[in-house]
Amino acid sequence: PVMKEMLGLAKLEEQIRKAYNLRRVIIVSGDCENSSTARQELGRAGAEALMDVIEQKDVVAVTGGTTLADMAERLMAPPHATLSENWFVPARGGLGENLEIQANTIASIMAKRVGASYRLLHVPDLLGREAYHSLVDDPNTQEIVALIRKARIIVHGVGDAMEMARRRKLDAARIEELHNEGALAESFGYYFNKEGTVVHKMLTLGLRLEDIISTEVVIGIAGGKSKAKAIHAVLRFGHEDILVTDEAAALEIVNEL
Ligand code: BG6
Repeated sequence: PVMKEMLGLAKLEEQIRKAYNLRRVIIVSGDCENSSTARQELGRAGAEALMDVIEQKDVVAVTGGTTLADMAERLMAPPHATLSENWFVPARGGLGENLEIQANTIASIMAKRVGASYRLLHVPDLLGREAYHSLVDDPNTQEIVALIRKARIIVHGVGDAMEMARRRKLDAARIEELHNEGALAESFGYYFNKEGTVVHKMLTLGLRLEDIISTEVVIGIAGGKSKAKAIHAVLRFGHEDILVTDEAAALEIVNEL
């Protein structure tokens, strides 16, 4: 039965890989939504996927979220690898998350686990226009933003748009607006509709859409049946290279192909 299950997952991986022209798809068994084993496996698979592509001196930009936090815990440098000249940085700042799952925290944990360095981006949550402009002009911020934009690898989570809007405490009017715009997915503070078009952006610093589009290796990590539509929307955006997901989400995605 184990072999049969593995063959089934391998088939699913190949179906999704082909449909979205991805470099690699990794599917762990189960549903992250109701299994802590599946969540741990997703984190481990994400950590391995990153270690498979990382090269010396790479800058790796990461988002926040519980999935990335699980992944950080499972990260291990491959034997003999020297990652001391690598940098981990947050992909974007101040998106309104609890400290434990902020991109800054995750970048620092990952860096420490593999013996790399990290830089943090200090941006207050839900930035107003004025604060945004004074930060953009700050030389320290400019330096770290320049480093973030050099990232060769991005590792990001994907969330359901409405759930993320609530988690980020957007006001009722904003949530209504997002709903009317058909927002299904959220990632990096960008909201995507069914077609994968960005319908809303949160005002913050770090990676811009054009940076994400031109980054060499974009790794998306997300699982759970309830996230399937969101993951699918981000796949349609069309700039993922590696997808790490679970069986529950993968089955839904394949159903819609
Ligand atoms: C956020 C990321 O921190 O986590 C998003 O910026 C992502 O890219 C979200 O949508 C997903 O969170 P979780 O907890 O479901 O992994």
